[in-house]
Amino acid sequence: MSTQSQKPLKILFASSEAQPLIKTGGLADVAGSLPLALAHLGQDVRVVLPAYPQAVEGAKPLTTVAMLNLRGHQGEVRILEGRLGEERVPLYLVDAPALFNRPGNPYTGADGKDWPDNAQRFALFCQAIVALALNRAGLSWHPDLVHCNDWQTGLVPAQLAFEDNRPASIFTIHNLAYQGNFNRATFDLLALDRKLWSHQGLEFHNNLSFIKGGLAFADWVTTVSPTYAKEILTSSLGYGFEGLLRHREDRLRGVLNGIDYQAWDPASDPAIAQHFDASTFSLKRRNKTALQQELGLPVDENAVLFGHIGRLVAQKGVDLILQVLPGLIDRPETQLVILGSGDPALEKVLNAQRDLHPQRIAVVIGYNEALAHRIEAACDCFIMPSRFEPCGLNQLYSLRYGSVPIVHRTGGLADTVVDASPRNLLDGTATGFVFDHPDGNTLWRTIQRALDFRRRPGVYWEKLAQHGMQQDFSWDSSAEHYLEIYHQAIDNPASNPLAKLA
Ligand code: ADP
Ligand code: GLC
Repeated sequence: MSTQSQKPLKILFASSEAQPLIKTGGLADVAGSLPLALAHLGQDVRVVLPAYPQAVEGAKPLTTVAMLNLRGHQGEVRILEGRLGEERVPLYLVDAPALFNRPGNPYTGADGKDWPDNAQRFALFCQAIVALALNRAGLSWHPDLVHCNDWQTGLVPAQLAFEDNRPASIFTIHNLAYQGNFNRATFDLLALDRKLWSHQGLEFHNNLSFIKGGLAFADWVTTVSPTYAKEILTSSLGYGFEGLLRHREDRLRGVLNGIDYQAWDPASDPAIAQHFDASTFSLKRRNKTALQQELGLPVDENAVLFGHIGRLVAQKGVDLILQVLPGLIDRPETQLVILGSGDPALEKVLNAQRDLHPQRIAVVIGYNEALAHRIEAACDCFIMPSRFEPCGLNQLYSLRYGSVPIVHRTGGLADTVVDASPRNLLDGTATGFVFDHPDGNTLWRTIQRALDFRRRPGVYWEKLAQHGMQQDFSWDSSAEHYLEIYHQAIDNPASNPLAKLA
């Protein structure tokens, strides 16, 4: 039966970030667009976020709709209500100023270190989500299902599992490498139910693990691409959770992320110099010259411009890009632009390379959403050598903007980019360049393959890029897929792994 013909579901979507209110990475893109796609499918979906100052500012006007007294928290917690996106999806902000009203990054202080009270902050966020989920906030709204995302919401499925008349719970892993692990003393400090301290519960190698609450207790566990759903069952990417995940394999699915086709549309993007689409592909080069001018690179529409955007962390493989720099510098037709922030050591090395080769490399350290759009619009090739990548969104933006992706065959990158092998070129499926081993030599050979392909006479390159632009990575089919899983979770809830102790 089509999920659309079923009765609309009441869905509480819980995330610690959502675009355009607060973003550190792809989770925000997903939380800012999947709920809108679900609303578009006729579902009663509401989003809940912590009331970070940026979220409060961006979501105004807000009204206070509930006051909660939550265990272990001094004073009342306000629930503020606003709206998210063009679908005007109801948005709840959990306002506990002592915990969330801080400048800058939601997870780290100005020194780049995690806020020391992150466990208390997100435990309180989880408690507020549980109150909303059980209709205990006085909002007269009883969700059928709570969709939790990443470790910051991991305690929710664990706490709900002990409640009668609870909504179903789904837990989506956006990145298993971030687990929200804290010591035993923190478990005691949070005054969590003592029976949760068990191998079947939240205990993970003698620590409290927030993410384990989602993995062990949710009715269904999903992750953001089919390939990553398989990879996390192995010891190399399971981070010690592979056994638990294998145990739950019949309730684990990979649902590929979609992207927001309105926010990322080269035909109407307000951030870029020249609009274009697949049929006017030749106009794209004006974005290249505009970006070269903006970033102080020599203006040359024939240069082959490579781009990279991302958090500067080991996962993303920027060090591999550093390894291929000598090769790129040797090829006079190439230029490279990198936008990112993160590891101070990587930031320093990138800046030093820019200083050595200012005619060939542009580096922007920082977070700049509009510049990210301009880089996607301007590049010929987008390099994403991630060591692992649960889904990855930049390769999808690149496909949409005709910037041919060069990616490592892992996770969502493997699921979304089709290598320009002779066979795939022949049958017309190729959209980019894919390599198997995340090392500098392999990346360099792949870049050379792309450069050789680009030099082919005729319209080979243009056809490859246009084919990427024609792929459909909108939310339509993935939102339907989530709905199917929601219905299964509601119809067939999982049993509480601690039931015998409850
Ligand atoms: P992850 O969530 O692991 O960081 P994704 O590829 O899923 O990786 O999503 C990253 C998102 O964050 C993309 O929307 C990307 O454009 C954006 N992004 C990352 N770093 C920056 C930056 N320095 N400036 C602007 N946008 C950035
Ligand atoms: C995570 C992953 C990334 C994914 C994003 C959104 O941050 O690292 O691969 O695209 O979440 O699901």
